[in-house]
Amino acid sequence: ARVDCAMALFDVDPHHPDSSLIHRAAEILRDGGLVAFPTETVYGLGANALNADAVARIFEAKARPAWNPVIAHVTSVHDARALTTAWPALATVLAQTFWPGPLTLVLPKHESVPDIVSAGLPAVAIRIPSHPVARALIAALGAPIAAPSANRFTELSPTTAAHVQESLGDRISMILNGGPCDVGIESTVVDLTGDVPILLRPGVISREMLANATGVSISLAPDEARDNTPRHSPGMVERHYAPRADVWLFTGDDLHEMQQRITKVFPVESGRMSALVLDWSLTFPEHVRVVRMPNDPLAYARLLYATLHDLDQDGFAVIAIERPPQRGAWAGIHDRLNRAAH
Ligand code: TXA
Ligand code: MG
Repeated sequence: ARVDCAMALFDVDPHHPDSSLIHRAAEILRDGGLVAFPTETVYGLGANALNADAVARIFEAKARPAWNPVIAHVTSVHDARALTTAWPALATVLAQTFWPGPLTLVLPKHESVPDIVSAGLPAVAIRIPSHPVARALIAALGAPIAAPSANRFTELSPTTAAHVQESLGDRISMILNGGPCDVGIESTVVDLTGDVPILLRPGVISREMLANATGVSISLAPDEARDNTPRHSPGMVERHYAPRADVWLFTGDDLHEMQQRITKVFPVESGRMSALVLDWSLTFPEHVRVVRMPNDPLAYARLLYATLHDLDQDGFAVIAIERPPQRGAWAGIHDRLNRAAH
């Protein structure tokens, strides 16, 4: 088992990345090493997707189970198609509408992609990111980059380089610090391998947006349709995207009950209780740290993980979170909060 220990964090201009630094990072990838880099969604932990040993190091560093496949990142539809054996018309429409951007498409895998990337599944997940650092790195490597979120398995995804350093700093050779991620939650994942497209993971590109672009309704994964807990995609394990603190979800309606619970479990001055609210008029006992969240799903998504990371850093034992709406662009946030609370 080889784990790189000489970690180094390098600042990089998110809009105009320095090409000599990008080439150093690409050199590490070419040698089979790992580089963490910013994307518009969350930071990724990258390896050369065509090098099975390198991809194995991602699994090792994250302690990620072998059954959980990773996304291959490319810079063009041409390069995306090369990783597949079929490219349905829906893929063309979705790529034209949403790439580069926070959308991942699952398509039949070409044999040139090592099995470890897809965790042995016959399909591979592909994304064209919009972040200039991610794009420059893929271009400099001249190969697709396999990259899950750069956190240990089941932890919160990182939206800053500092989050990556906390979680994986001792396990990777290089972290490119391009500042905070703009989108803030992971990409929407859509499976295009069957007769109907299936939403495997909601994100800021909503089901409604996908349906509008394609004229086709996007199914929920079978289990999600029944109990709102998708298992169709191997990565969608229930306790995932979780802070260390306990997460309690509440709505305005059960606020009274929540406040009693807060008062009972955390007597005044214990200082270990926090709340994320959408309704800024809600009041809490004085010892509760209240964080007022924006009422816009994109702004909320951008802040969510960083807020949870901060509360974890400050040692809060409980984070009570007011449930956002379930529809439209809120669906991705709703999904992550349910997982965090599981
Ligand atoms: O925004 C993102 O997608 C970020 C950035 C770095 O691109 N990446 C990310 O990767 O969130 P990860 O590995 O944390 O999540 C990938 C998700 C998992 O739920 C995984 O199970 C699913 O995509 N996935 C990957 N390959 C798949 C496949 N072949 N079939 C079905 N699901 C797949
Ligand atoms: Mg992840």
